[in-house]
Amino acid sequence: MDQPPVNAPITDRPKILVTHRLFEEPRAKLGEYFDAEYWSDSDRPQRSEVLRRVADKDGLVCLLTEKIDEELLDAAPRLRIVANVAVGFDNIDLAACARRKVAVTNTPGVLDETTADFAWTLLMAVARRLIEGDALARSGGWKGWNLDQLCGADVWGKTLGLIGFGRIGRAVARRASGFGMRVIYSDRARAPREIEDQFRAEYAEIDELLRQADFVSLHVPLLADTHGLVGPRELALMKPSAFLINTSRGPVVQEAALVAALEKKQIAGAALDVFEREPQISHGLLRPNVVLAPHLASASLETRTRMAMMAVENVMAFFAGRRPANLVNPEAWPQVSDATPASAS
Ligand code: DGY
Repeated sequence: MDQPPVNAPITDRPKILVTHRLFEEPRAKLGEYFDAEYWSDSDRPQRSEVLRRVADKDGLVCLLTEKIDEELLDAAPRLRIVANVAVGFDNIDLAACARRKVAVTNTPGVLDETTADFAWTLLMAVARRLIEGDALARSGGWKGWNLDQLCGADVWGKTLGLIGFGRIGRAVARRASGFGMRVIYSDRARAPREIEDQFRAEYAEIDELLRQADFVSLHVPLLADTHGLVGPRELALMKPSAFLINTSRGPVVQEAALVAALEKKQIAGAALDVFEREPQISHGLLRPNVVLAPHLASASLETRTRMAMMAVENVMAFFAGRRPANLVNPEAWPQVSDATPASAS
């Protein structure tokens, strides 16, 4: 069977659709080797527009807002690689891509610290009522210091519960030691002892974590078994003084159950970067003890540029006949002769 030659040069400028302008550096890199067509409006492209433009493309660099499914793959018979500019790839039907030998890549690692920073931003903001304070300070209605004004909850010395203890969960844990917090985590499997020691984290079964944590922060990918992971039962286990922080994926939390728990004061508040039906946000979340962010956790200029660059490097590797560093569907590699990239020489 023909295999793409290893380290082949990219010779015949494959056609790539990029559903966002990217940033200058990755854009310049892509331009060196490919005929790239960009979606450059500030609004996201309509689905019909993506389907139309992808029809004659060999590669696709897309955001997590694009759904890569059978319909899109049908519309793109030449497509060989989908490079998602995100670590999560729940927007992509991996099985459908594998069936057609379409490689899929993501951008792991580069956003861990930035995302962990933002989980802490949310945690601090909700605990210390920063958004309410900001609104009061701007309103012109602030009458001056007062003893019981906007008193929030202490963060230092409390218990942080991490659901998901991968790279991002660990980066969040590392920051907790500066606050003198106890860290507990739950995950599918217990981490090795040296990792627990390094991050000063103790393993707990999820129910126990929910019972004990003052802050529950979610760091799991969206998979079949994490969909709706935090529902009425889990929220009922949390302390009435505890906060829920979500920087993972919206559907990990059952949003209606969260609204109900907030209404019943089952928990003290929530800070959310992600939502079940983005960009829609349930009306019931618009309350003072909920901090809302529009999916910003990785949004530093440095990190988003690195993510875009990584996606471009994955595409470059692919069309040079090398296995992309961040291939998430290894069954699509190596490509067999009838699926060999037309453009890899
Ligand atoms: C991801 O990468 O999956 C985030 O949600 C956006 O950075």
